[in-house]
Amino acid sequence: MYDVSNIRKDFPIFSEKINGKKNTYLDTAASAQKPQCVIDKMCEIYKKAYANVHRGDYALSQSATSEFENARRVLQNFVGAKDVREIVFTRNATESINLVASSWGQKNLKTGDEILISEAEHHANLIPWQIAAEKTGAVLKIFKLKDNGDFVPEEFEKCLSSRVKLVSMTGMSNVLGTIYPIKEIISAAHKKGAVVLIDACQLAAHKQIDVQSLDCDFLAFSGHKLYGPTGIGVLYGKTEILKDMPPYQTGGDMVDRVTYQKTTFAEPPARFEAGTPAFVEAAGLASAVEYVLKLGFENIEQHEQNLVDYFSAHAKHTKGFKLLSQSGNQGGIFAFELNGVHPQDLAFVLAHEGVSIRVGHHCAEPFVNRLGYASLARASIGLYSLAEDIDAFFQALEKVRRFF
Ligand code: ALA
Repeated sequence: MYDVSNIRKDFPIFSEKINGKKNTYLDTAASAQKPQCVIDKMCEIYKKAYANVHRGDYALSQSATSEFENARRVLQNFVGAKDVREIVFTRNATESINLVASSWGQKNLKTGDEILISEAEHHANLIPWQIAAEKTGAVLKIFKLKDNGDFVPEEFEKCLSSRVKLVSMTGMSNVLGTIYPIKEIISAAHKKGAVVLIDACQLAAHKQIDVQSLDCDFLAFSGHKLYGPTGIGVLYGKTEILKDMPPYQTGGDMVDRVTYQKTTFAEPPARFEAGTPAFVEAAGLASAVEYVLKLGFENIEQHEQNLVDYFSAHAKHTKGFKLLSQSGNQGGIFAFELNGVHPQDLAFVLAHEGVSIRVGHHCAEPFVNRLGYASLARASIGLYSLAEDIDAFFQALEKVRRFF
């Protein structure tokens, strides 16, 4: 049975009071809280198994290396990759996407080619493509979504010509929580010969991902949204594509042979991991992934779906509350407005009540503008969220109403 009150006990931060009030954390889409096992794993390495990886013939370096390479195997199994060498560790999803836009883009894009993304993309899945287009002469195209952010197959297909060399799309909107039909998108793009990158930064924390069944060419996500540490991210890439890509950054540990005149590079993933990697963080992320898998995605999904329904029911009965997140396929991210109250004012009052939400453009300014707003309030849940968190949120909104 999924016992959320027990699960909460694994997260030390929930015993902290906020402004003397209960800690109602509804900003998991920005960053998830960490279970004790992640904190312990990282402390254990720093205390007992710390030295640089891949560089020492002594015991400490070998322990650290085996923690790092074991983390890669855990992440391989997590996404269902065919080969462990398809897992590249980066700093975060942003760096994963920049790596592809820069390296794959430099090798494969030329004048007249097209890059296709949706209107819903986070800045991290927009700006790297703007820059890749500027550098290569390719054209960045943006396909339209419905006014409520839903996917429209005809709009996508209208933009999907044989000039499109790459489609990059989020699996789940970080603003609205809409879950997109990525399997269909990938298959349609492949029929036109395009390579597909999925930004799974939000999706990976809520749904089981299987890169082989999806057949995506690249998949990017961050550790910190997946209950792991900051400073670690993952890029999955198909072997034959990664092998053909030039380095993104250069330096230590990514080389084959170096002379003063010339360098040859290591095979992936080392080719894309220049410098000392965040191996303690990688081990922390592996521990987070094992924790999530132990709870089971089926259970997590059911729990979060119950909370999505609970939130929506509350929203319907709250005067002046407009829930923008209302897709038929909706994850636990809720963008909303309240009776014309400025989101910043609203968040300020909520924060005073111990309720943490995010406001602003959510690093997706064009999309928030497209939805008709300059700024939006957003609440979001995770595997540890409680119905009581949602009660506390709506109770705090009553206070907002009294103030404004
Ligand atoms: N991308 C994160 C968010 O949506 C930071 O809040």
